Amino acid sequence: CGIVGYIGQDDSKEILLKGLEKLEYRGYDSAGIALKNENGVHVFKEKGRIADLREIVNGDVVANIGIGHTRWATHGIPSRVNSHPHQSTSGRFTLVHNGVIENYDILKREYLTDVTFISETDTEVIVQLIELFVQEGLEVLEAFRKTLTLLHGSYALALLDEQDDETIYVAKNKSPLLVGLGDDFNVVASDAMAMLQVTDQYVELMDKEIVIVTKNEVTIQNLNGEIMIREPYTAELDASDIEKGTYPHYMLKEIDEQPLVMRKIIQMYQNEQGELTIAPEIISAMNESDRVYIIAAGTSYHAGLVGKQFIEGIAKLPVEVHIASEFVYNMPLLTKKPLFIFISQSGETADSRAVLVKVKEMGYRTLTVTNVPGSTLSREADYTLLLHAGPEIAVASSKAYTAQLAVLAILADVTAKSQNIEVNFDLMHELGIIANAMEVLCDSKELFKHISREFLSVTRNAFFIGRGVDYYVSLEGALKLKEISYIQAEGFAGGELKHGTIALIEEGTPVIALATQGSVNLSIRGNVKEVVARGANPCIISMKGLNMDEDSFVIPEVHELLTPLISVIPMQLIAYYAALHRDCDVDKPRNLAKSVTVE
Ligand code: G6P
Repeated sequence: CGIVGYIGQDDSKEILLKGLEKLEYRGYDSAGIALKNENGVHVFKEKGRIADLREIVNGDVVANIGIGHTRWATHGIPSRVNSHPHQSTSGRFTLVHNGVIENYDILKREYLTDVTFISETDTEVIVQLIELFVQEGLEVLEAFRKTLTLLHGSYALALLDEQDDETIYVAKNKSPLLVGLGDDFNVVASDAMAMLQVTDQYVELMDKEIVIVTKNEVTIQNLNGEIMIREPYTAELDASDIEKGTYPHYMLKEIDEQPLVMRKIIQMYQNEQGELTIAPEIISAMNESDRVYIIAAGTSYHAGLVGKQFIEGIAKLPVEVHIASEFVYNMPLLTKKPLFIFISQSGETADSRAVLVKVKEMGYRTLTVTNVPGSTLSREADYTLLLHAGPEIAVASSKAYTAQLAVLAILADVTAKSQNIEVNFDLMHELGIIANAMEVLCDSKELFKHISREFLSVTRNAFFIGRGVDYYVSLEGALKLKEISYIQAEGFAGGELKHGTIALIEEGTPVIALATQGSVNLSIRGNVKEVVARGANPCIISMKGLNMDEDSFVIPEVHELLTPLISVIPMQLIAYYAALHRDCDVDKPRNLAKSVTVE
């Protein structure tokens, strides 16, 4: 979901549509634009893809002002009626909104009993409130401000007034939003990528700010009307990073980029003496804490599980890993000196941010590990470690996961050394070996295509098993498969399957087993035998040195602690080809969003 807006000299139509296409990767189920010219405001919206929206946009409408939106349904099913922009009853105000208004029903009952609502959305309440307060005599800006003070929840908003040819009103709370600056034009966007086509100069917005955007001016105010002065920054995104080139899908491109990302990380985390390094204040924060709490969602949560293994194994510091959306309501007993590490590719996940806000209020120290410099979680945490993976566009995360693992391993390694804890391997050297091994795996695509066809082309479910870190990679393998191929897939600890789920094993059920850990090699193979005895179709992926004749694929040998960095690649590729075999939309799977900016 995302927002764009343009005000300037040019026709806004194509700029908005292109902007929305750049936001497609965030996930959405409907889209719309509103174009304002001397004849009024023209709204076009449609369920489905931007391509569907393009078909209904009237090419004859030329307008210098416009706003656009991609919607990922929260209140109300995906439909044309529920998609944005939404208009007030008189048609004077037109609004796009990302986020969730928690008290929309209360506001409806308190202020808007006379209004007939067209959609089921929380957004329509906002635009109707603005109209109500204007009818009651307030200036538009005041009506907008008053409405904002009544809203509980998250929002990024862009508003058009049919009677005003010069302004887009903008506001933000919790949901991401930027204003981009140009010569004789200005833009609004949920992320810089959307408007990189016209400018690389952006101004960050803080929560509860209002922005009055005209073609020559951007005025930021807080809710009390005080003017806020803020310098723009240059978005350092290379437009070519966000093109897929000759690749059929972003996901495949991003899988292939992993060796490159490893080498980039080694380079970025190296000091002049050629040693791995991390900012001293971050290492002090690690050393001063008695326990690390990793908070994350989705794939980043799976990276956190492996990160725990690294930090405990290498730096001997206890770690707990928590799902953000659970932690926020169900906080465990904390130790006296916790350090919170937020792992988030986008740096925008609302569930993780909710925890960040809470633990900051409690006075705890916070570190964000993210791929996006300047993202909300990066700005708001005390410290940031960047992934340097380049933009990740495919909804299913691949290179961000391995980058997260590499950065967490470096954090563990530098922390250990700062405490004179002996690390009995050279991490930098090992990461180099990993990069090479990744290349070997990326060159084996035909094999994974074959494995995927053999095991996954017709099945309705699949199980992934492993022990130790292999279990954590199994969870990620299952997530990849379900995200993009819609095959029902679950990851299990090898020993756990027989405590219930084995009941689901039928003749031919695929069970993908990982065997990269010497200490549990025989036990995981024992688990495979248990499922084979019940008819399962086993696909064993092992590491060189531990391999046996029956294995489907053998990954190159790397340091045993670091195997998740490469054993995940077969998982990614198998899922990718399974999605292709099944004609699924690999980069934009149904129902999913890349940045989930609602709690
Ligand atoms: C969404 C995405 C997942 C991602 C998760 C966490 O659900 O679809 O791929 O792992 O959010 O995102 P983050 O940006 O915080 O890592």
